[in-house]
Amino acid sequence: MPVLTTEVKTEKSVDKQNSETQQHITNTAAKVQLQSVTKTYANGSHALLNANLEVKKGEFLFITGPSGSGKSTLLKLLYGQELPTQGEVIVDECNVATLRGDRLSLLRRRIGIVFQDYKLINQRTVAENVTFVLQAQGYTRKEIQRRLEPTLKLVGLLKKADCFPDQLSGGEQQRVSIARAIVSTPPLLLADEPTGNLDPDNSWQVIQILQKLNSFGATVIVTTHDEQLVRRCNHPVVQVRNGKLSRK
Ligand SMILES: Nc1ncnc2c1ncn2[C@@H]1O[C@H](COP(=O)(O)OP(=O)(O)O)[C@@H](O)[C@H]1O
Ligand SMILES: [Mg+2]
Repeated sequence: MPVLTTEVKTEKSVDKQNSETQQHITNTAAKVQLQSVTKTYANGSHALLNANLEVKKGEFLFITGPSGSGKSTLLKLLYGQELPTQGEVIVDECNVATLRGDRLSLLRRRIGIVFQDYKLINQRTVAENVTFVLQAQGYTRKEIQRRLEPTLKLVGLLKKADCFPDQLSGGEQQRVSIARAIVSTPPLLLADEPTGNLDPDNSWQVIQILQKLNSFGATVIVTTHDEQLVRRCNHPVVQVRNGKLSRK
């Protein structure tokens, strides 16, 4: 399997790419709406109950709530992994539940997702993990190279491009997963408990990276039950309790 090598670029060209990334995100930032959404799983579990939510373009929103309150379900509805039992889930003016096949794939390409447990491929290097999705989506090798370096730079992993996941700390692995989520410059970034397995320092690093992407114009939604982390930031917060949402 060919290993992606990072071509040496000047700081200037990296900065140019960053500003292009910024421009692209700003132009296409997403907006999210839940309208009277209820989600009941097949086994009868009620995850969301008549939930309403509006997330504006460019917003950074925390979603907090105890385990089992419906946070992951909310994100799954946004990227179409689950369908609402009732109500409408709208992302970028598209009703997610009505999308099938190519149209759902196209929406998902515009959403970056970060999970608590990283979900990296252990047999692939950092560079390969980050670029894997771009290859699958048919990006040219040149375009992949153009995106890789500034993305790794943004998450502080330029020097680790050829390492494998088990050679990295938990914080570094999470930053690889963020790089993978953002390498295609999605206007919407969803992070489901991205700091759940990390110590306070690494958690803060992750939040700072997400904030930086938000400053480029991406809409960012982060679930967490870390109240301290939420208090440290000055972002709006939605509380989920027993499937109901309330803005704090
Ligand atoms: N695939 C599923 N099948 C059945 N019930 C589920 C499924 N996923 C989640 N649930 C239930 O839905 C509720 C909300 O779960 P979840 O959205 O994962 O909460 P959180 O992310 O806040 O911990 C819980 O009661 C959970 O048991
Ligand atoms: Mg969850």
